[in-house]
Amino acid sequence: MRVIDKPGLAPIRHLLEDAAVTEIMINGPQQVFVERAGQMVEVPAVFTHPSQLDLLVDNLVVAAGRGVSARAPMADFRMDDGSRVNVCIAPVSLQGPAVTIRKFTHAVRSFNDLVRAGTLTMRMAEFLACAVRARLNILFSGGTGTGKTTTLGILANQITRGERVVVIEDTAELDLSIGHCVRLESRRANNEGAGAITLGDLLRNSLRMRPTRILVGEIRGDEAFEMVHAMTSGHDGSMAVLHASSPAHAVARLELMLLSRGLALPLWAIQRQISTSVDLILQHEILQDGVRRITHVCEVGEVEDGQVRTEPLFEYRLAGYDAAGRAVGRFVATGRRPRFHEKLRLVAGDAVDALLAAD
Ligand SMILES: Nc1ncnc2c1ncn2[C@@H]1O[C@H](COP(=O)(O)OP(=O)(O)OP(=O)(O)O)[C@@H](O)[C@H]1O
Ligand SMILES: [Mg+2]
Repeated sequence: MRVIDKPGLAPIRHLLEDAAVTEIMINGPQQVFVERAGQMVEVPAVFTHPSQLDLLVDNLVVAAGRGVSARAPMADFRMDDGSRVNVCIAPVSLQGPAVTIRKFTHAVRSFNDLVRAGTLTMRMAEFLACAVRARLNILFSGGTGTGKTTTLGILANQITRGERVVVIEDTAELDLSIGHCVRLESRRANNEGAGAITLGDLLRNSLRMRPTRILVGEIRGDEAFEMVHAMTSGHDGSMAVLHASSPAHAVARLELMLLSRGLALPLWAIQRQISTSVDLILQHEILQDGVRRITHVCEVGEVEDGQVRTEPLFEYRLAGYDAAGRAVGRFVATGRRPRFHEKLRLVAGDAVDALLAAD
């Protein structure tokens, strides 16, 4: 039986089956929100009794072969349809079980889908396809739910045959159709605090698996060091997600992660490492109109005046919002010639100049 058919899921089945709903957020039995077309809306009266939510949580975690208890009150897992679930119960969740379901939709699976959704322009898509072929190291930056994983998956699917890709995630969710690919998933510590296998452990191990590229679902801490090292040691063309609100913030977060690793390296050395390893940062944002956009495609430049420069090649210029609340603005190319221009020319010839020419 599919999870969605389990009796405990009846109260939210209509939300799970509604293709327009992309996320379901249950904040205890009294309050349920969904994301519909990029906007958060409350759904009234989903549960008539708190026990319905307890049953729902039981059904979800048992189907995933997991458990939650007062000692281990949080769990992350996937449903059998690929949807990603996070569950938090008491004592950490205060108003009853909090359940967040990121539905697995096939709505956005290609560059064409991204262009249709208004996330980028076809010219930007063509540039990014070149960037993958030219083996640039790319960071996907943005806030929660802005579309980072989705874009990474679409770019990764440009990787051609003849490559061997190692994919490292906390919870496997990337939607990939790469022929030669090894997928690794980290493991949390058990209730006694033992047996954890971190992203850093997997990254170190992956270097011995002869990958030609490494993809990391998200870098948050110690594994940043292994990632940057991999990017500069023959695994160029690697990609990783990082939570940050702007390209400059992404660099700052990376600096902080590398500094807190305790290697006693001075900031300038860390900055030089970032500048030589990361080529591109894609900034993802959901603007007030609910549309997910790649607001900046930035080159990571040299270190100048004690800062790693991030220079936009493409950016979204927002002029304001119209009466219907839609963003009024446009994507522009800045006309900048990036440091990796020659690498792009090797794969795309003169076409690169047209892709990068100023609007
Ligand atoms: N460009 C897009 N246009 C419209 N919807 C999108 C776009 N990209 C992703 N989505 C949808 O938005 C939701 C979030 O996408 P995704 O998981 O890629 O975000 P994320 O930034 O990786 O989130 P998180 O921070 O939680 O990891 C998904 O339901 C996905 O289908
Ligand atoms: Mg993600």
